[in-house]
Amino acid sequence: MNRNYTVAIVGATGAVGVEMIKVLERRQFPVGKLVLLASARSAGKTLPFNGTTVTVEELTEDSFKGVDIALFSAGAGISRKFAPFAVKAGAVVVDNSSEFRMNPDVPLVVPEINGDDVKLHKGILANPNCTTAITLMALYPLHKAFGVKRVIASSYQAVSGTGAQALAELKAQVEAIVTGRPVEKNVYPHQIAFNVLPHVDVFLDSGYTKEEMKMQNEARRIMHLPAFTASVTCVRVPVFRAHSISVNAEFERPVSVEEARKVLTGVPGLKLVDDPAKNEYPLPLNCAETDDCQVGRIRLDCALENGLAFWVAGDQLLKGAALNAVQIAEKLIC
Ligand code: A2P
Repeated sequence: MNRNYTVAIVGATGAVGVEMIKVLERRQFPVGKLVLLASARSAGKTLPFNGTTVTVEELTEDSFKGVDIALFSAGAGISRKFAPFAVKAGAVVVDNSSEFRMNPDVPLVVPEINGDDVKLHKGILANPNCTTAITLMALYPLHKAFGVKRVIASSYQAVSGTGAQALAELKAQVEAIVTGRPVEKNVYPHQIAFNVLPHVDVFLDSGYTKEEMKMQNEARRIMHLPAFTASVTCVRVPVFRAHSISVNAEFERPVSVEEARKVLTGVPGLKLVDDPAKNEYPLPLNCAETDDCQVGRIRLDCALENGLAFWVAGDQLLKGAALNAVQIAEKLIC
């Protein structure tokens, strides 16, 4: 379709919202009008877009008149309350929160994997959990080749996944420690600087956290694979930006490192970085602020049958959030 669209961003001043603005601009999404929405605290603030400035407005039930596409990233509560008003006004919602991800009427989409599911929407589409999306960028091509049965994984998640306050807390704690001042903590239950926390999101009765179960639950929907299982430990690490995941995957069919490397070469949105002899493997620092996820450290898993071990990293604010949301919007209009 050859037209321009009125696009709204709910949570435009947040860590993901700001990235959404930049991704729309960088990918030259056909934006006729950009509507930036946030809380009353931010109303009147201006943000740059395509060489102009756009004034942030307070989000209300009436914010969506004339909006074609509404990208939501202001938390599940805001999505629950305001997405229905956007749909009622005629907009299609792409929601970055967890609110609708398991709703069978809402397609959960990684465009490189199940882009055709976009067509099944009834007004709302969901963007997956960041760790899940990044993991699947490498796991799905391997699944197509070898048929995945189950994975055991541990994540190494950056503080920017928690938001701007967590970034500030890590910086402040590092400064306090190197200058010998007492460490203050507000965002996480423990010091994050020079530490790792095996705790992301709230604990469930099973002992897993909600974040840990997203990999199994969301991957089943995205890969159309209801029998897939995943045992995950999510860990917060003192990294500013980009998540990494160590994955051990068991497949139906025999695997080899050579074939796996071939399968993972030239995949859109994924870069193979796997030359251990030269100390080359994916690093969060190298993935920060880049669209492509990276995969490496590919080896035969010595404990699983038909198993591969690998390491995947990606910018959780981009492929894990803003980029994936804009890619869904691109699918909507093509
Ligand atoms: P604001 O900056 O005005 O608080 P983050 O995930 O980085 O914390 O960002 C959350 C985003 O959600 C911000 O843009 C924030 O706006 C927005 N937000 C939070 N609460 C509300 C609310 N009650 N109404 C509208 N937007 C909200």
